[in-house]
Amino acid sequence: MSETVRIGLTDGVFRIEMARPEKKNALTAEMYQTMADALASAESDPAARVILICGAGGNFTAGNDLADFVATPPMDDSAPVFRFISGVANVQKPFVAAVEGVAVGVGTTLLLHCDLVYAGATSRFALPFANLGLTPEAGSSLLLALRAGHARAAEILLLGEPFSAQSALELGVVNAVLPDGQALDHALERCRKLMTQPTASLRLTKQLMKRAQQGLIRDTIAFEAEVFRQRLVSPEAREAFSAFFERRKPDFSKFD
Ligand code: COA
Repeated sequence: MSETVRIGLTDGVFRIEMARPEKKNALTAEMYQTMADALASAESDPAARVILICGAGGNFTAGNDLADFVATPPMDDSAPVFRFISGVANVQKPFVAAVEGVAVGVGTTLLLHCDLVYAGATSRFALPFANLGLTPEAGSSLLLALRAGHARAAEILLLGEPFSAQSALELGVVNAVLPDGQALDHALERCRKLMTQPTASLRLTKQLMKRAQQGLIRDTIAFEAEVFRQRLVSPEAREAFSAFFERRKPDFSKFD
């Protein structure tokens, strides 16, 4: 187990906790790898009835670690980030998230693959892909529009502005907003309730709910990944990453 991801199985709940609090749980390739492996173990372990993802230190995750992106850009589908995305998109067991603090980039897009999402009142969500010279991933170009409608999805993806837990609730991205610090307890209570339901019915219900869109989602994820890989080495992305670490606004005016 990596120390930046804590994994545990307690009373049927398989918990994956992103734990790199000094970087707001920004995700490195090593963390994606650990989480992808953890999802695979959870899926194959009959003792794991529900999968719960959360973050340590008062944040969910600040998304992909930007330094890691520059140092080791994911080159193909076997890259840990894409293995993780494929894992979350294919989870068969009930998948629950507890969000506090920031949920940026993949921190928000992974929620579109969860079944139940609970968020602290002041948590903040953002999909700043365009702001970084990048493009949406994890099926979000499709899933967000399906959830929220084109107009609201376009606002979130083209402008990349953060939005509140209340907005996430209205957009259909989260199930409930809890007082700060209570999202995890609430999520655990919902996990316990799920475990009183018959396992086969839950599995089949989830399969049926996803059936119509599964192929389309898979295609979208694959196509997005191809575009994303090209964007990652674009001059706009390089400018945006440098600007983030130099704590300045990016200047995209010199690019077409
Ligand atoms: N990649 C790498 N480092 C990150 C990071 C990321 N995605 N997000 C935060 N960090 C680091 C910061 O560089 C800082 O490190 P330092 O203390 O060594 O300088 C530390 O985490 C704390 O972040 P900070 O920016 O000081 O916190 P904040 O509360 O002011 O802002 C965020 C929080 C999440 C809004 C801001 O950090 C941010 O915008 N991060 C980038 C998010 C992003 O673009 N993710 C990728 C999406 S594809």
